[in-house]
Amino acid sequence: MGSGLVRRLTAAGHTVLLTDHNADKAANVAAQARDGQPGRASAAEDAEALAADVVVLAIWYPGTVEYARANSAALSGKVVVDISNPLDDSFTGLTIDPTTSAAEQLAAALPDSSVVKAFNTVTSTVLPVGELDGTPSDTFVASDDDKAKATVLELLEGTGLRGLDAGKLSNARLLERLTAFGIELGQRYGLEFDFAFKYLPATEMTPNG
Ligand SMILES: NC(=O)c1ccc[n+]([C@@H]2O[C@H](COP(=O)([O-])OP(=O)(O)OC[C@H]3O[C@@H](n4cnc5c(N)ncnc54)[C@H](OP(=O)(O)O)[C@@H]3O)[C@@H](O)[C@H]2O)c1
Repeated sequence: MGSGLVRRLTAAGHTVLLTDHNADKAANVAAQARDGQPGRASAAEDAEALAADVVVLAIWYPGTVEYARANSAALSGKVVVDISNPLDDSFTGLTIDPTTSAAEQLAAALPDSSVVKAFNTVTSTVLPVGELDGTPSDTFVASDDDKAKATVLELLEGTGLRGLDAGKLSNARLLERLTAFGIELGQRYGLEFDFAFKYLPATEMTPNG
Protein backbone atom coordinates (compact mmCIF):
# COMPACT_ATOMS: atom_id res chain seq x y z
CA MET A 1 0.00 0.00 0.00
CA GLY A 2 2.90 2.35 0.74
CA SER A 3 4.21 1.79 -2.77
CA GLY A 4 0.78 2.37 -4.34
CA LEU A 5 0.32 5.54 -2.29
CA VAL A 6 3.66 6.89 -3.50
CA ARG A 7 2.62 6.10 -7.08
CA ARG A 8 -0.74 7.88 -6.82
CA LEU A 9 0.48 10.88 -4.82
CA THR A 10 3.49 11.52 -7.07
CA ALA A 11 1.15 11.21 -10.08
CA ALA A 12 -0.64 14.26 -8.63
CA GLY A 13 2.70 16.09 -8.23
CA HIS A 14 2.99 15.71 -4.46
CA THR A 15 6.26 15.22 -2.60
CA VAL A 16 6.28 12.04 -0.50
CA LEU A 17 8.70 10.99 2.23
CA LEU A 18 8.63 7.25 2.88
CA THR A 19 9.82 5.74 6.13
CA ASP A 20 10.08 2.05 7.06
CA HIS A 21 12.07 0.19 9.69
CA ASN A 22 14.09 -1.11 6.71
CA ALA A 23 15.58 2.07 5.18
CA ASP A 24 16.80 0.28 2.02
CA LYS A 25 13.30 -1.04 1.39
CA ALA A 26 11.85 2.47 1.72
CA ALA A 27 14.46 3.85 -0.71
CA ASN A 28 13.77 1.11 -3.30
CA VAL A 29 10.00 1.47 -3.04
CA ALA A 30 10.24 5.28 -3.35
CA ALA A 31 12.53 5.05 -6.41
CA GLN A 32 10.36 2.49 -8.23
CA ALA A 33 6.98 4.05 -7.41
CA ARG A 34 7.95 7.64 -8.34
CA ASP A 35 9.50 6.55 -11.67
CA GLY A 36 8.10 8.69 -14.51
CA GLN A 37 5.80 10.68 -12.22
CA PRO A 38 5.79 14.48 -11.87
CA GLY A 39 6.04 14.45 -8.06
CA ARG A 40 9.00 13.51 -5.90
CA ALA A 41 9.47 10.65 -3.43
CA SER A 42 12.41 9.63 -1.27
CA ALA A 43 13.21 7.62 1.82
CA ALA A 44 13.44 9.55 5.08
CA GLU A 45 14.05 9.06 8.77
CA ASP A 46 10.90 8.84 10.90
CA ALA A 47 11.44 12.33 12.35
CA GLU A 48 11.64 13.94 8.91
CA ALA A 49 8.63 12.02 7.57
CA LEU A 50 6.52 12.82 10.64
CA ALA A 51 7.17 16.55 10.06
CA ALA A 52 5.08 16.40 6.84
CA ASP A 53 1.74 18.19 6.60
CA VAL A 54 -0.13 14.91 6.22
CA VAL A 55 1.07 11.57 7.64
CA VAL A 56 -0.29 8.30 6.23
CA LEU A 57 0.22 5.23 8.40
CA ALA A 58 0.55 2.45 5.82
CA ILE A 59 1.01 -0.25 8.44
CA TRP A 60 -1.21 -2.93 9.97
CA TYR A 61 -3.61 -2.53 12.89
CA PRO A 62 -2.90 -2.74 15.86
CA GLY A 63 0.62 -1.63 14.83
CA THR A 64 -0.98 1.66 13.81
CA VAL A 65 -2.15 2.33 17.36
CA GLU A 66 1.18 1.22 18.88
CA TYR A 67 3.11 3.42 16.42
CA ALA A 68 0.79 6.35 17.20
CA ARG A 69 1.25 5.99 20.97
CA ALA A 70 5.03 5.93 20.55
CA ASN A 71 4.99 8.99 18.26
CA SER A 72 2.07 11.01 19.62
CA ALA A 73 4.17 14.12 20.29
CA ALA A 74 5.53 14.24 16.73
CA LEU A 75 2.03 13.63 15.34
CA SER A 76 0.44 16.35 17.47
CA GLY A 77 -1.42 18.90 15.30
CA LYS A 78 -1.03 16.73 12.19
CA VAL A 79 -3.54 15.22 9.81
CA VAL A 80 -3.00 11.46 10.28
CA VAL A 81 -4.53 9.11 7.69
CA ASP A 82 -5.52 5.61 8.74
CA ILE A 83 -5.73 3.14 5.83
CA SER A 84 -5.90 0.00 7.96
CA ASN A 85 -8.38 -2.86 8.04
CA PRO A 86 -8.35 -4.94 11.25
CA LEU A 87 -8.82 -8.16 9.28
CA ASP A 88 -8.85 -11.58 10.94
CA ASP A 89 -6.94 -14.57 9.54
CA SER A 90 -9.67 -15.29 6.95
CA PHE A 91 -9.47 -11.69 5.65
CA THR A 92 -13.29 -11.79 5.41
CA GLY A 93 -13.97 -10.80 9.03
CA LEU A 94 -12.60 -8.31 11.55
CA THR A 95 -10.78 -8.80 14.85
CA ILE A 96 -12.72 -5.98 16.52
CA ASP A 97 -16.42 -5.72 17.30
CA PRO A 98 -18.82 -3.42 15.39
CA THR A 99 -19.04 -0.80 18.18
CA THR A 100 -15.61 0.58 17.28
CA SER A 101 -13.07 0.77 14.46
CA ALA A 102 -9.31 0.78 13.99
CA ALA A 103 -9.63 4.46 13.02
CA GLU A 104 -11.44 5.42 16.24
CA GLN A 105 -8.88 3.52 18.31
CA LEU A 106 -6.14 5.44 16.47
CA ALA A 107 -7.94 8.72 17.19
CA ALA A 108 -8.16 7.79 20.89
CA ALA A 109 -4.37 7.25 20.89
CA LEU A 110 -3.84 10.62 19.16
CA PRO A 111 -6.07 13.15 20.97
CA ASP A 112 -4.06 16.09 19.59
CA SER A 113 -4.09 14.92 15.94
CA SER A 114 -6.80 14.95 13.29
CA VAL A 115 -7.41 11.35 12.22
CA VAL A 116 -8.89 10.70 8.78
CA LYS A 117 -9.96 7.31 7.40
CA ALA A 118 -9.16 6.89 3.70
CA PHE A 119 -7.79 4.39 1.14
CA ASN A 120 -8.80 1.35 3.22
CA THR A 121 -11.35 0.09 0.67
CA VAL A 122 -8.86 0.39 -2.22
CA THR A 123 -6.90 -2.82 -2.72
CA SER A 124 -3.13 -2.96 -3.20
CA THR A 125 -3.81 -4.31 -6.72
CA VAL A 126 -5.91 -1.29 -7.73
CA LEU A 127 -4.11 1.45 -5.76
CA PRO A 128 -0.97 1.69 -7.97
CA VAL A 129 -3.14 2.43 -11.03
CA GLY A 130 -6.09 4.04 -9.21
CA GLU A 131 -8.70 2.70 -11.60
CA LEU A 132 -10.31 -0.40 -13.03
CA ASP A 133 -11.24 -0.59 -16.72
CA GLY A 134 -10.74 3.16 -17.08
CA THR A 135 -13.06 4.02 -14.17
CA PRO A 136 -11.46 5.80 -11.20
CA SER A 137 -11.76 3.85 -7.97
CA ASP A 138 -13.56 5.64 -5.15
CA THR A 139 -11.94 6.19 -1.81
CA PHE A 140 -14.21 7.05 1.10
CA VAL A 141 -12.85 9.80 3.37
CA ALA A 142 -14.23 9.96 6.91
CA SER A 143 -13.24 12.22 9.81
CA ASP A 144 -14.67 14.21 12.71
CA ASP A 145 -12.45 17.13 11.62
CA ASP A 146 -13.95 18.74 8.51
CA LYS A 147 -10.78 20.73 7.77
CA ALA A 148 -8.61 17.61 7.88
CA LYS A 149 -11.12 15.76 5.71
CA ALA A 150 -11.05 18.61 3.17
CA THR A 151 -7.23 18.46 3.17
CA VAL A 152 -7.28 14.76 2.29
CA LEU A 153 -9.99 15.24 -0.37
CA GLU A 154 -7.82 17.99 -1.89
CA LEU A 155 -4.76 15.74 -1.71
CA LEU A 156 -6.64 13.16 -3.77
CA GLU A 157 -7.19 15.53 -6.69
CA GLY A 158 -5.06 14.47 -9.63
CA THR A 159 -4.24 11.08 -8.12
CA GLY A 160 -6.69 9.23 -10.38
CA LEU A 161 -8.78 8.15 -7.39
CA ARG A 162 -12.10 9.85 -6.66
CA GLY A 163 -12.42 10.94 -3.04
CA LEU A 164 -15.90 10.95 -1.50
CA ASP A 165 -16.86 12.67 1.76
CA ALA A 166 -17.88 9.67 3.89
CA GLY A 167 -18.96 11.62 6.97
CA LYS A 168 -17.88 11.05 10.57
CA LEU A 169 -14.94 8.93 11.69
CA SER A 170 -17.36 6.39 13.18
CA ASN A 171 -18.27 5.48 9.59
CA ALA A 172 -14.89 3.73 9.59
CA ARG A 173 -16.76 0.87 11.34
CA LEU A 174 -18.65 0.39 8.09
CA LEU A 175 -15.71 1.11 5.77
CA GLU A 176 -13.48 -1.46 7.48
CA ARG A 177 -16.24 -4.11 7.24
CA LEU A 178 -16.84 -3.11 3.63
CA THR A 179 -13.29 -4.15 2.77
CA ALA A 180 -13.75 -7.54 4.45
CA PHE A 181 -17.00 -7.96 2.52
CA GLY A 182 -15.26 -6.98 -0.74
CA ILE A 183 -12.58 -9.59 -0.09
CA GLU A 184 -15.28 -12.21 0.63
CA LEU A 185 -16.94 -11.42 -2.71
CA GLY A 186 -13.52 -11.48 -4.39
CA GLN A 187 -12.89 -14.95 -2.99
CA ARG A 188 -16.37 -16.12 -4.04
CA TYR A 189 -15.92 -14.91 -7.61
CA GLY A 190 -12.20 -15.68 -8.04
CA LEU A 191 -11.13 -12.03 -8.18
CA GLU A 192 -8.78 -12.04 -5.16
CA PHE A 193 -7.94 -8.31 -4.73
CA ASP A 194 -8.80 -7.30 -8.29
CA PHE A 195 -11.92 -5.27 -7.49
CA ALA A 196 -12.85 -1.69 -6.62
CA PHE A 197 -15.77 0.05 -4.96
CA LYS A 198 -17.70 2.63 -6.96
CA TYR A 199 -20.62 4.76 -5.76
CA LEU A 200 -22.80 5.23 -8.83
CA PRO A 201 -25.04 8.32 -8.70
CA ALA A 202 -28.37 8.50 -10.53
CA THR A 203 -27.83 12.23 -11.15
CA GLU A 204 -24.93 14.68 -10.85
CA MET A 205 -23.40 14.65 -7.35
CA THR A 206 -23.19 18.01 -5.55
CA PRO A 207 -21.70 18.23 -2.04
CA ASN A 208 -24.19 19.91 0.31
CA GLY A 209 -22.55 19.28 3.66
N1 LIG B 1 -3.02 -4.99 1.00
C1 LIG B 1 -4.17 -4.43 0.68
O1 LIG B 1 -4.80 -4.73 -0.38
C2 LIG B 1 -4.75 -3.36 1.55
C3 LIG B 1 -5.89 -2.65 1.12
C4 LIG B 1 -6.41 -1.63 1.92
C5 LIG B 1 -5.81 -1.34 3.14
N2 LIG B 1 -4.72 -2.07 3.54
C6 LIG B 1 -4.10 -1.73 4.84
O2 LIG B 1 -2.86 -1.12 4.55
C7 LIG B 1 -1.95 -1.37 5.62
C8 LIG B 1 -0.64 -1.91 5.03
O3 LIG B 1 -0.95 -3.08 4.30
P1 LIG B 1 0.12 -3.67 3.26
O4 LIG B 1 -0.59 -4.75 2.54
O5 LIG B 1 0.75 -2.58 2.49
O6 LIG B 1 1.18 -4.30 4.29
P2 LIG B 1 2.71 -4.66 4.05
O7 LIG B 1 2.94 -5.05 2.63
O8 LIG B 1 3.07 -5.62 5.13
O9 LIG B 1 3.47 -3.29 4.27
C9 LIG B 1 3.60 -2.71 5.52
C10 LIG B 1 4.99 -2.11 5.60
O10 LIG B 1 5.09 -1.35 6.80
C11 LIG B 1 6.29 -1.75 7.47
N3 LIG B 1 6.10 -1.51 8.91
C12 LIG B 1 5.32 -2.20 9.75
N4 LIG B 1 5.38 -1.63 10.98
C13 LIG B 1 6.20 -0.57 10.88
C14 LIG B 1 6.67 0.40 11.81
N5 LIG B 1 6.29 0.39 13.08
N6 LIG B 1 7.52 1.36 11.37
C15 LIG B 1 7.91 1.38 10.09
N7 LIG B 1 7.51 0.48 9.16
C16 LIG B 1 6.66 -0.49 9.56
C17 LIG B 1 6.45 -3.20 7.12
O11 LIG B 1 7.77 -3.62 7.31
P3 LIG B 1 8.06 -5.18 7.73
O12 LIG B 1 7.46 -6.03 6.65
O13 LIG B 1 9.53 -5.22 7.79
O14 LIG B 1 7.38 -5.35 9.05
C18 LIG B 1 6.09 -3.18 5.64
O15 LIG B 1 7.18 -2.75 4.85
C19 LIG B 1 -2.65 -2.36 6.57
O16 LIG B 1 -3.20 -1.65 7.64
C20 LIG B 1 -3.80 -2.94 5.71
O17 LIG B 1 -4.91 -3.30 6.48
C21 LIG B 1 -4.17 -3.05 2.78
